[in-house]
Amino acid sequence: MTKKNIHNFNEMVEKGEKIVYLTAYDYLTAKMQEKAGVDMILVGDSLGMVTLGYDTTFPVTMDDMIRHCQAVRRGAPETFIVGDMPYMSYQHSDEQAVANAGRFVKEALVDAVKLEGGGPMMASRIKAIQEAGILVMGHIGLTPQLMGQLGGYKAQGRSADAAVRIVDQAKVLEEAGAFSILVEGVPAQVGKAITELAGIPILGIGAGSYTHGQLLIYADMVGMYDNFTPKFVKKYAEVGNILVEAFKEYTEEVRSGSFPVDGEHTYKMKDEEIETFEKKLKDRG
Ligand code: KIV
Repeated sequence: MTKKNIHNFNEMVEKGEKIVYLTAYDYLTAKMQEKAGVDMILVGDSLGMVTLGYDTTFPVTMDDMIRHCQAVRRGAPETFIVGDMPYMSYQHSDEQAVANAGRFVKEALVDAVKLEGGGPMMASRIKAIQEAGILVMGHIGLTPQLMGQLGGYKAQGRSADAAVRIVDQAKVLEEAGAFSILVEGVPAQVGKAITELAGIPILGIGAGSYTHGQLLIYADMVGMYDNFTPKFVKKYAEVGNILVEAFKEYTEEVRSGSFPVDGEHTYKMKDEEIETFEKKLKDRG
């Protein structure tokens, strides 16, 4: 498999082929996703909840993101990877945004970065980052880093006026130079309008079926993250339950002594070595 690039994604859009996008945060998961043939991996700052156990994405740092992007890159060397810029790593200034986007590319070899928000300030950040030669994905709709202003983790664009505002934001980000936009948590009609008006790939998470591609948080869709499951998630497996059962069985077997089984899960030693070993121990008293 060869790594897809921006031209391949634009071609997929032209041909009406859907872009498959999933989050990953570690080497093993990235390796499995590459094996499965996903087109694009997002190392999201949802890392904070899914992997680091925080309640929100706010505490996630640049160093956290870089470390996990590096692991994902090692697991998926042939997949297009997007690094998610964490809270306060781009909000201060265009210079800060360019410097931190550069760290993602230089230190973790990601193919693009993503940032949240649709106003003029984010347009300026996107313009600056893309002028530095780095691909930027916008992210509008339900943007977790703006949770306070949005009044919580809930669907956006449900009134006509709010829907128009989000459609307008998509245009602003496209004009600023975003190579793609992720639209999260909006009614399907809003996802459809943005997709129809766009000249770049529009990816959706909880934005209906009309977008050029779909993203899910992998831990939601395999049933591993059970603190909260948004309405738009489809569960393709119950891996969390399978793991709990395996951990339980191991616990019982260790406690009962039925694991490990001699000869089956143990290393062998030649009889004469055992004899000499036992003699040596005995001689030491
Ligand atoms: O951090 C993340 O995984 C994201 C998705 C929720 C869109 O930004």
